[in-house]
Amino acid sequence: MFDHLPAYADDPILGLFDVYKADPRPGKVNLGIGIYCDEAGQVPVLESVRAARADGVGARGPSVYLPTEGGEAYRDAVRALVFGKAAAADIVVVQTVAGTGALKVGADFLKGVLPEAAIWMPDPTWANHAAIFSGAGFRVESYPYYAGATGRFDVDGAVAALRKLQAGSVVLLHPCCHNPTGVDPSQAEWHALFDVIAQRGLLPFFDMAYQGFAHGVDEDAWAVRECVRRGIACLVASSFSKIFSLYGERVGALSVHAPSADTGRLLGQLKLAIRRSYSCPPAQGAALVEAVLSNPAWNAQWRTELDAMRGRMRDMRTRLHRMLGEALPERDFGFLVAQNGMFSYSGLSAAQIEALRSRFGVYVVSSGRICVAGLNASNIGHVCEALADVCAGGAAQ
Ligand code: LMR
Repeated sequence: MFDHLPAYADDPILGLFDVYKADPRPGKVNLGIGIYCDEAGQVPVLESVRAARADGVGARGPSVYLPTEGGEAYRDAVRALVFGKAAAADIVVVQTVAGTGALKVGADFLKGVLPEAAIWMPDPTWANHAAIFSGAGFRVESYPYYAGATGRFDVDGAVAALRKLQAGSVVLLHPCCHNPTGVDPSQAEWHALFDVIAQRGLLPFFDMAYQGFAHGVDEDAWAVRECVRRGIACLVASSFSKIFSLYGERVGALSVHAPSADTGRLLGQLKLAIRRSYSCPPAQGAALVEAVLSNPAWNAQWRTELDAMRGRMRDMRTRLHRMLGEALPERDFGFLVAQNGMFSYSGLSAAQIEALRSRFGVYVVSSGRICVAGLNASNIGHVCEALADVCAGGAAQ
């Protein structure tokens, strides 16, 4: 029965992380997987989360099942975070197993109610998006996103592609910190996208894994809130792995804004998708996120910590930009400071990426995506030397 299993090519991000972990070289630098590390190169425990834990939140008592859709207080806290304090109560939020779980629950839910719909994804997008949606039975297509010649969002290409779609097509969007490019639409460009989405009757599915990593918690949710303000139905997958530094806890949520739907039935369909998949969500990480969001002092502390993470990533971008500019003055590394969030899209060739890894122990995803959140004062010099070497022709282009 199992003699002819197909080989798994391994995930381009998680597989690379395994190779990095097995690398014995002491000076290796992980700029692959999207994990925020502090100046000491450690995954931080946020003080706001530590304070909630110290207060007993998430402590192990009797272990009972959460409701299929997650606890009400958690869902209310997430609704306010994503859509603003005045968000309409008819936006249905369910707790999920991180952002990936939200995408999967959303995909299964949509497949049930829109069985013929295809999903259109930006080119490029997170390596796992196509796998999740094709795994749920979707036909996966792409629309232009990144204009390589300018390093900007290809708004004309995207709008032209969306204009041709059938009503009811699902359109995947990154509201901030686009993964992998770090290139986000301006507000004017979002308006152009929403105009065509509304005209064609398309369904936006936002993947928001980095709320607060570009400009701020509310600023980064602007596109989602504008979509809701326009009365456009949409889905939002939220991940709290990065912004709460709770990677292993798998905390996330799926929100659905469906202005004409019966919210009881909508919640029922989401519960059905969850029950069929993993039954109900894990408790401890969500208890921490709920407590931090709901307690004014911890919430303020968390926002300060989020600002500091964002500021450190900005600082690393600025420093690397300056250092590379000094090393290779004839080259333009402006993309480093123009892009948002954890990721920078470098345009490095496969040979350059391989040389970075084999000769310098610097790990970058095969798409050329660099995780700037892995840089710090101790490793940035080595990374700059490595990049300058491969860019100057130390590796074939
Ligand atoms: C990434 O893009 O590196 C992160 O979202 C981690 C992952 O699961 O791929």
